[in-house]
Amino acid sequence: MEQKKRRFAVLTGGGDCPGLNAVIRAVVKTFLQNDCEVYGVLNGFNGLINDNLKLMDYAAVSGILPRGGTILGTTNRDNPFHFAVEENGELVYKDMREKVIENLRKYDIEALVVIGGDGSLNIGAELARECDIKVVGVPKTIDNDLPCTERTFGFDTAMAMATEALDRLHTTAESHHRVMVLEVMGRYAGWIALHSGIAGGADIILLPELPYDIDRVCEAVERRAKKGSNFSILAVAEGAINTEEARMKRKDWMAKRAEAGLGTTATNRIAQAVQKKTGMETRVCIPGHMQRGGSPSAYDRVLATQFGSYAAQLVEVERYGVTVAMVNRRVTENRLADIAGKTRNVPENCELLSVARRMGVCLG
Ligand code: F6P
Repeated sequence: MEQKKRRFAVLTGGGDCPGLNAVIRAVVKTFLQNDCEVYGVLNGFNGLINDNLKLMDYAAVSGILPRGGTILGTTNRDNPFHFAVEENGELVYKDMREKVIENLRKYDIEALVVIGGDGSLNIGAELARECDIKVVGVPKTIDNDLPCTERTFGFDTAMAMATEALDRLHTTAESHHRVMVLEVMGRYAGWIALHSGIAGGADIILLPELPYDIDRVCEAVERRAKKGSNFSILAVAEGAINTEEARMKRKDWMAKRAEAGLGTTATNRIAQAVQKKTGMETRVCIPGHMQRGGSPSAYDRVLATQFGSYAAQLVEVERYGVTVAMVNRRVTENRLADIAGKTRNVPENCELLSVARRMGVCLG
């Protein structure tokens, strides 16, 4: 009698990120190589609630390595423990954990690979804790701000994109003797701003971790102009805040920003203040989701492939409740509970911060 194959599933949750397809491919190929079956869950946890799964074969993952996005689809809304359902024209939130358990049973799925950021890994940890579902996580975010791993895939690609933007801004800034303010992604952590700022030779780098003083920023621009560099480049993380905001509650400074009408990030306000105080023409550039789209870099493809195949291996040996990680440049694992819902900020002793300071880069 033919032995029943072991069955697993893989899903992508939260915001997309270059390299997701490379992880999916590595997970699927590793399982198939070991004679297991693997289902792709469509649209993150939504697919587990609404029974939207598809059996993956080699053809399903053929040619996806260089593709951006995720062939499985994703969403950053659908939490099985707090799932929005329309009832009598109104949105109500329901606990759908039983649906998730039912669907996993229906397909006879032994364990789940969750590829996601803090939110999705948190849900994965909760499914493991509350519903005894076997989960292995793969950390994903262009922001590179998940704890217990030195790198997340997608970061290298986003950083390269932001660096290219800085390179392009340099030539136009120099020609017009302007100040260019580039806003890069990073709500809570400034890894993209710091790395692309260094790679792209930004004169001023502003991170959420180091609240800036607008006078110091303007002084830096003026200092450069006095030395004959009649242009300046700022790399600003979208989560950058000033010293006054740092003393306030988040909701209060957000309300203040909304009132001022210059957008939810500090970028436009910084540009306006620099132009006013230095008299130099200033322009803003926000590449936004372009940083998240497109083909992953070679580095991200390798990292994503390492993470994916390692995750599948962990599942097969039943090492559950963990996430894959890169520690001391080696792929390893951490407890899911240790990373879920936490952020890894740029630490004060970060070597790149010292490099920037030594070179006279203004950090606000
Ligand atoms: O966490 C990744 C990220 O790209 C952040 O850098 C950014 O603030 C956020 O997602 C944007 O999310 P959304 O696509 O939901 O607007």
